[in-house]
Order: sequence, then structure tokens, then C-alpha cells
Amino acid sequence: MVNQREKKVLKMTQSPSRTERSINIIEYFQKKGAQVDAWLERLLPAVSEAPSLIHEAMRYSIFAGGKRLRPILAIATGEAFNAEERTLLPAACSLEMIHTYSLIHDDLPAMDNDDLRRGMPTNHVVFGEGMAILAGDALLTQAFRTLADCEGGTPQRKLRVLSEVASAAGTVNSLIGGQVLDLQFEGKSVTGEQLESIHRAKTGALIRCAVRIGAIVGGADEAELRALTVYGEKAGLAFQVADDLLDETATSEELGKTAGKDAASHKATYIALYGIDGAREMADRLYHEAVAALNSIDRETIMLEEIARFIVERKS
Ligand code: IPE
Ligand code: IPE
Ligand code: MG
Ligand code: MG
Ligand code: MG
Repeated sequence: MVNQREKKVLKMTQSPSRTERSINIIEYFQKKGAQVDAWLERLLPAVSEAPSLIHEAMRYSIFAGGKRLRPILAIATGEAFNAEERTLLPAACSLEMIHTYSLIHDDLPAMDNDDLRRGMPTNHVVFGEGMAILAGDALLTQAFRTLADCEGGTPQRKLRVLSEVASAAGTVNSLIGGQVLDLQFEGKSVTGEQLESIHRAKTGALIRCAVRIGAIVGGADEAELRALTVYGEKAGLAFQVADDLLDETATSEELGKTAGKDAASHKATYIALYGIDGAREMADRLYHEAVAALNSIDRETIMLEEIARFIVERKS
């Protein structure tokens, strides 16, 4: 029987000409996604723990069926450096907690005002706005507890990872800062440069961070880290360009979130500025640049190449 995760993964890569390689990446996402879910299950407070309602709200959005791209990127990078699972997996899961918090808050009426996410009613629709705000806060907080508590690794590396994640979730060229610009530029015209800085920050920073923490946990040297950072930056920007494209070209059913929302809200997107063809070209160029950045690394990076391709070819 095909479970919910398998269905989700199959759906997101569906294309008429599925190659051998894309089958491998489907398997990789299924395998690593299941591992991430098992760790998340352990890392989040049980619903039986009081106050139950907040734990239920946190788990509702975490287990609603995301692609797990950020933790899987961290894992794929860490594995190229033989990182230890007991350190890598919790670090990877902390990114999924932060990502999910950002989605819960992004969907709030005061932000994008969405009622569909991961194929389910949004957190505030089910639990109310107050509880959704708190569930987001709680996931963000739990991410840092997870990082502080994870086993293995040197204290120095652990601190570096904490600092990297805090920085990517923060305000300067990072997640919150990007969300600030996203709101400020609603209904306004942007230059290409402004648009790039919004997307690099709101989405790119956490994806870049996923690659960097995988490398740091695995003990990559500074040259390797620099090359992987370029890969992460290109892949992160490509991810949001693809998100803009899908908002315009896919259906709500395919996406599990409301399609056509960006145009309706007059968001600053790659489609609004460059059109569908322009945005596709941009995504393709970023994919090639991401893969080229891996050239200098003398490690098995085929899965990172495949993930970059998935980022621009995905259907949801
Ligand atoms: C959606 O991210 C929000 C953006 C940052 C563009 P994903 O497309 O990774 O969402 P899930 O995790 O699969 O639900
Ligand atoms: C969301 O960007 C970015 C973050 C949540 C940080 P979007 O607003 O484009 O994401 P979707 O399309 O709602 O998933
Ligand atoms: Mg938004
Ligand atoms: Mg949104
Ligand atoms: Mg979007």
C-alpha cells in the first residue's frame, strides 16, 4: 500500500518522462523523509503532555505532509562528509521546525491570509489565531532546544551550528527580514535587485543554512564550505523562483496551498517582474550555477545535484 508520504513524493515529481535518476531521488526523499519524521516524532512534545492543545497544534502542521526539503538537504550534505546521524538528524529536524513555524505565521490573516497549507486547513483555521501564533513560537523555540541538546559533535561545531541557524532565521538578509520586505513590497513595483534580496532572505537563507550545517556537522573544510555555500545560495534562490512559478502555473490541488495567491495579493514575484518564461530561464540558470559550484568538491555530491534539479523541476 502506498502511504501518505509516498503519495506526496510521487505527486511532487510527476512528469511524463520520469528518468532513472528521478526515481532515485524519489526513493531518497522517501527514505530520508521517513527518517526525519521518526526523529521529529521523538523531538516534539507528545500530545499527552500538558498543555495538550499547543502540542497538538505544533504536530498538526509538522505532520501535515511537507516535502522535508530543508532537512533532506542538510542530510545529503552531511552524508557527503560522513556526518554522524545522532548529530545530523536533530540538526536537520530543527530546520523543519523553523520552516514550519514560518509557514504557520506566513499563512496568518495578518500576513498572507491563507486557509490551505500542505493540503490541509491552515493552523489558525483549525486552532484559532492565538494558538497558531503560539504554535509557531513554540516550534521556533523547540528548534533551538533541539540544537542545544543534540548528541555528538564538538562543542565548537555545536555552537557554530546554533549561530548559523539563529542567523538564518533572523532579520539581516534572513528569513524574518525577507518576510518584512515581502509585506512592505506588496502592491509596489520592485527592481530586479530588490526582488532578489527579498527571495534570498525569506527563503534562500534557510536553504543555504541547511547546506552549511550539514557541511559543518560533517567537518567540511573552509574551501568546501565556501563552495557549498554558493550551491546553497543558488539552490535557495531557485527554490523561491520555482515557488513563484508554481503559484502562477499549478493548481491548488497540486500544491496543497492556494494557487494564484501572489497575483491576487500583488506580491513582488519573479513572474510579476519577468513573466513565466523569464522566471523559468532564471530558475534554469540558477540550477546550472548551483551544480557548477559543486565541481571543486572532491566528495560524492550527486544527490546534491539531483536535489538542485528537483528544486527547479518539482510540481508542488
Ligand atoms: C513553501 O516551502 C514556502 C516557501 C518557502 C516557498 P515548501 O514548498 O518547502 O513547503 P513544504 O515544506 O513542502 O510544505
Ligand atoms: C514564504 O513565501 C516564505 C516563508 C514562509 C519564510 P510564500 O508566501 O511565497 O510561501 P507560500 O507560497 O505561502 O508557501
Ligand atoms: Mg508569504
Ligand atoms: Mg504565503
Ligand atoms: Mg509562494
